[in-house]
Amino acid sequence: MKKNISAVLGLSWGDEGKGKIVDALAHEFDMVMRFNGGGNAGHTIVLGETTFKLHHIPAGIFSPNVTNIIGRKCVVDFFDIIEEITQLKNNGVEISPHNLMLSYDSQVVLPYHKQMDALREKMRGNGKVGTTGRGIGPAYADLISRVGITLGDIANNSFKEKLANEVRVFNAIAREFQEVEISLSELEAHISSLRHSITPFITDSYSFLRKNIAAGKKLLLEGAQGALLDAYFGTRPFVSSSLACIHGALLDLGLAFQDIAETIGVTKLYNTRVGNGAFPTEFHDEQLRSVIQGRGKEFGATTGRARRCGWLDLPTLKVVSSVNNVSAFAITKVDVLDTLDEIQICDSFVSLSDDEDIPYYPGSDEYFAGVLPRYKKFAGWKSATAGAVKKEQLPSDLVSILHFIEKETTVPIKFISTGAKREELIRVEP
Ligand code: IMP
Repeated sequence: MKKNISAVLGLSWGDEGKGKIVDALAHEFDMVMRFNGGGNAGHTIVLGETTFKLHHIPAGIFSPNVTNIIGRKCVVDFFDIIEEITQLKNNGVEISPHNLMLSYDSQVVLPYHKQMDALREKMRGNGKVGTTGRGIGPAYADLISRVGITLGDIANNSFKEKLANEVRVFNAIAREFQEVEISLSELEAHISSLRHSITPFITDSYSFLRKNIAAGKKLLLEGAQGALLDAYFGTRPFVSSSLACIHGALLDLGLAFQDIAETIGVTKLYNTRVGNGAFPTEFHDEQLRSVIQGRGKEFGATTGRARRCGWLDLPTLKVVSSVNNVSAFAITKVDVLDTLDEIQICDSFVSLSDDEDIPYYPGSDEYFAGVLPRYKKFAGWKSATAGAVKKEQLPSDLVSILHFIEKETTVPIKFISTGAKREELIRVEP
């Protein structure tokens, strides 16, 4: 049987440029489904002169005839999604229940989740995760604890008793920690006054998707965050709370690895990280950091925080690619490195304690903090690649680096992104 499902995943700590790749590919699909995370994501899409920042809504929203689905295992901020839809509409993007579906089963994020997120961070002190403050951890805690409110509860107006329970629990904690309590009546009234604006979008996405997959429709799975922020597999505890690896999508839809035709893993030609946690290849050179931050606009799309920057790390990329069954890479932001004299790529780790080789991915933050990266050095290409649309336009020094990555990882590079705009993308012919 022909396989009709593909996926686009981040292979690092998020911000790899997945949104742009999904936007560029979406027109080849009937449906695009975001499968994890919530308002913590910030997918930046540049269309013409307009920059859009998507937090919940899949990046297929700009392609006509594509149905965009926010998957069941995403958490959806009730007030922020209404705002996101309104802003996109105000910018001329067509959004209706015909091209956007929310899932009946998705857990709802409410203001007390954000307060709880902030309180948890405050209590951690120096060990704080550095979350986006979007209430993601507490909302996923509801999912796992089988409590809280779902979008279905809002759609069929059965949320009030559950809300009362949640607010009671939250206020008891808030009192204990001298935090501001939530007014149940105000929150309930606020939700009631707005629920009609999103109810038409809320549907049984699982049945919709399974039926359409069976009918041969094409589905693109859109990951948020990145594999290293996966709640189970990432650099715990400095991770997000969702399943950002392909497994999140497979479990949500009841699919197997072999159902996926193609998994495109997205990575920049360098690395970034927002929030805390070990980052072995992080730049220590202040000037280099500011060049990359400036040229790469490495400031969070959701929080505006400056992203930490470093070299690409192949040992981790190899493992993450194999775990996710990545069949091709999209390498993004190559143009950001255009001015550098020298490019480094980490090709191995040794243990900081005994100088022994570490041939595997150190699967938690603690282990990751205990490695020393070894680098292969390449001459910089020192010429402009920004906006290139054909591989032949790329300088040979850059092509050598790309070949090195393919050889080391045994994963072919299918896309090379040379700028923020949709058309600034090279499709490498096999
Ligand atoms: P949370 O997802 O807000 O709980 O944050 C947990 C960690 O994931 C923090 O280090 C965040 O900076 C990071 N994070 C969450 N979402 C994203 C994203 O979309 N891009 C980059 N980092 C993210």
